Amino acid sequence: MRIFIIGGTGLIGRALCRALRAAGNELTVLSRHPETVAAKCGAGVEAMRTLADWTPQRAFDAVINLAGEPIVDAYWSARRKQVLWDSRVTLTEELVRRINLAEHKPAVLLSGSAVGYYGDRGDTVLDENAAAGTGFSAELCQSWERAALAAEKQNVRVCLLRTAPVLSREGGLLGKMLLPFKLGLGARLGDGRQWMSWIHIEDYVALVLRLLQDAEARGPFNMAAPEPATNREFTAALAQAVQRPAWFVASAFLLRLGMGERASLMLEGQRAVPGKFVAAGHVFRFPHLADALRDVIVGVRLFCG
Ligand SMILES: NC(=O)c1ccc[n+]([C@@H]2O[C@H](COP(=O)([O-])OP(=O)(O)OC[C@H]3O[C@@H](n4cnc5c(N)ncnc54)[C@H](OP(=O)(O)O)[C@@H]3O)[C@@H](O)[C@H]2O)c1
Repeated sequence: MRIFIIGGTGLIGRALCRALRAAGNELTVLSRHPETVAAKCGAGVEAMRTLADWTPQRAFDAVINLAGEPIVDAYWSARRKQVLWDSRVTLTEELVRRINLAEHKPAVLLSGSAVGYYGDRGDTVLDENAAAGTGFSAELCQSWERAALAAEKQNVRVCLLRTAPVLSREGGLLGKMLLPFKLGLGARLGDGRQWMSWIHIEDYVALVLRLLQDAEARGPFNMAAPEPATNREFTAALAQAVQRPAWFVASAFLLRLGMGERASLMLEGQRAVPGKFVAAGHVFRFPHLADALRDVIVGVRLFCG
């Protein structure tokens, strides 16, 4: 297949590019730094600098849209919120305009979203039928999804990737958490009762490959392992995986004071489960958190010595 990937240079995109290339696909990756694409995504992957370079004559069989400025890294000022919005919603709107102009339409668009779509829902188990939540990140996801769904008018099959925090040895959530945990400074966040969905990167990639191939798949998909954990459970499992204690508690009050509205990403949670994949009989390689963490952390040791 000829596949166009936006966000192909990111944490998820790089793993996906490796798998898609190994399966013999022809890849084009959009990046603001096209000179880095070969190193990040593999030799032979074509780089595209802007969506304006996608001419109507250029044909892709599938489009995967994973772009987005990191949501947790900087204070959510009005300006930062606009950057987060533009890199997801505005970019997706432009992408759909390019799809509309293309003479040969892609058969499928897989487009990013997050389990944050559901907002803060306490202990409620959330499959793909659950209603949308409130708050900035939930509203961002809803608009991001709406923008992608507009491609359905062109008879493009659209799958929405409601992504849970991805466990990878190359960065992301664990990239931020591992060092403090290894130093014995790991901490529960607030009361630790908030739910956290998660997914091992290998399972994430396998789900994306499945959605590309399955002509019946459309609509939202929770890209999450079947067993979400509370923050208290996640903290204990990570401490055990690195064989260090995690005695500390990061106070909710201080997190909100220091991080503002962005602290909601840590203190609120979603108990999201992959209802559609489970119903379809999908077998996860890492359904259990302890195994997923062990695999990623052993990998980090092999990488870093
Ligand atoms: N990783 C997770 O745990 C997780 C969880 C939930 C949701 N998600 C969502 O899934 C998507 C991929 O996640 P990730 O962890 O792979 O992200 P990442 O490592 O931060 O990579 C982000 C990607 O987006 C591209 N990008 C950022 N701003 C852009 C802009 N203004 N225009 C064009 N491209 C832009 C970057 O490309 P260049 O820098 O090369 O241009 C990069 O390839 C993101 O939208 C993220 O919000 C991720």
